[in-house]
This record gives sequence, structure tokens and C-alpha cells, in this order.
Amino acid sequence: MGTRQVMLVVLLACVALTVVDGARTLPESVLQLFGVSDKESDSCGPQVSIETPQCSVVEKRDTYELRDYNVKEIWVETLVPNSTFEMASFTGFYRCFNFISGKNSKNMKIEMTGPVHIKPTPDANGYKVAFFVPSRFKSVNDLPTPSDPKVHFYEPEKAVTAVIGPFGGFPTNKDYEAKFEELKKALDKDGLKYNESTVTYAGYSSPFQFKNRKQEVHVDLVSY
Ligand SMILES: *[C@@H]1O[C@H](CO)[C@@H](O)[C@H](O)[C@H]1NC(C)=O
Ligand SMILES: *[C@@H]1O[C@H](CO)[C@@H](O)[C@H](O)[C@H]1NC(C)=O
Repeated sequence: MGTRQVMLVVLLACVALTVVDGARTLPESVLQLFGVSDKESDSCGPQVSIETPQCSVVEKRDTYELRDYNVKEIWVETLVPNSTFEMASFTGFYRCFNFISGKNSKNMKIEMTGPVHIKPTPDANGYKVAFFVPSRFKSVNDLPTPSDPKVHFYEPEKAVTAVIGPFGGFPTNKDYEAKFEELKKALDKDGLKYNESTVTYAGYSSPFQFKNRKQEVHVDLVSY
């Protein structure tokens, strides 16, 4: 591991420990975050023991697949401006985790889902971090208001999404950027148009998990 990777692992471990410490009632769920299981589910993409957004595979190609996230989704999202990838991951994860741990208008605890999305946001010189809101919440009106004004809900436009992965390890922003380059090359070669500003790093594995980790890079197609 390079220095940056070691730093990221340490940061993520700090997030995890802080989270466990700050939410004493939740360590069980924290420790089970993103546990890998073989159970079948309706969702496509990596199968993990927590809920992931429903989707269907439109097409599988050599290096990537096209997915249709066809069901309306709600995400809880926060922007961390003027920030490195490592700091934004730390701060953003913590803000979203606080929301689901009860820092909201109803002190409601909401179960962890996957993946965690990290989205480069060059306009703000930082990153957005988002958690998928469990599908039992059908509308934003069913959800408590986040106590942190930096945290808000986000309902993505429906789109066909190109996905590369899953790949393992503890990817840094450079690793994600390299995967995105690989994906763009393959899409260019196949003549598929994508919207670069929708690029999303999707992490399905908790900071506690060291083996069999799963990450992907997503980008929305402009038309398909
Ligand atoms: C980001 O940094 C720039 C330059 O220092 C500053 O003007 C801007 O207000 C900062 N943005 C935020 C959202 O903090
Ligand atoms: C590309 O994505 C951004 C961010 O979601 C959006 O604001 C913009 O309208 C999209 N552009 C096109 C051409 O779809």
C-alpha cells in the first residue's frame, strides 16, 4: 500500500471508530455494514446484506455493464466543498451517518444501505457524499428533516447508467479516476454518449471489511 492508501485506511478507520463511539446504540448495525452475503435479491450489482437500489441489467459488455435504475430513488446527500477526496469522504460519510443515526427532526433511526456514493464536484472544488434512502420511504414527505442543514435529500433523474467494476482494495481518488478513464475509453469506442458530470464512485464495503471489497464507477448515458 502507498502512503495515500494507508492514510485513507486510517481515515476510514477513524470514521468508523468515531461513528461507533458517537452512536453507542448502533455498533451492531455499524459492524454489519455492507456485510457480504450470497442471498439473492431483486437488485442488480454487487450483492450485499444491506438494501441496495433496485435496478436491472440492460446489457453486459466486456469491461462494463449498462444498468437501468428504473425505480424512483431518494438519496440523502451532502456537499463537502474545497476538500480533498479523503477529507470529503470522512466528513460526508459522518454527516449522512449522523442523519440515519437519529440526528433528524424525529430522532428516527434509519437502517444503513449501500452503496455509499462519492461524486466529484469540480464546481465546488470538492465532493458530494450520498446514502441511498431505504425503499420503504416512498416519498421525501415520509422522511424526517436532517438536523444538519448541510444534509438534504436528492432524487436523481432516471437514466441508463454505465458501470465498471466491481473492483477491490481501498481505492483512492486516483484509482477511481483511472477506472473512470477506462470506462470512458470503452464507451467512446462503442460510440455511447455519457454525461461526465454524473460520474459517481460507489462503495459497497464498510471500512471494517478488508477482504472481498467491492467498488464501482458509474456514469449516466446521455441517451440510450
Ligand atoms: C472555497 O474556496 C474559495 C477560495 O478560497 C472560496 O472563495 C469559497 O468561498 C470556498 N467555498 C466554500 C463553499 O467554502
Ligand atoms: C449532466 O449532468 C449534470 C449533473 O447532473 C446536469 O446538471 C446536466 O444537465 C447534465 N447534462 C446533460 C447534457 O444531460
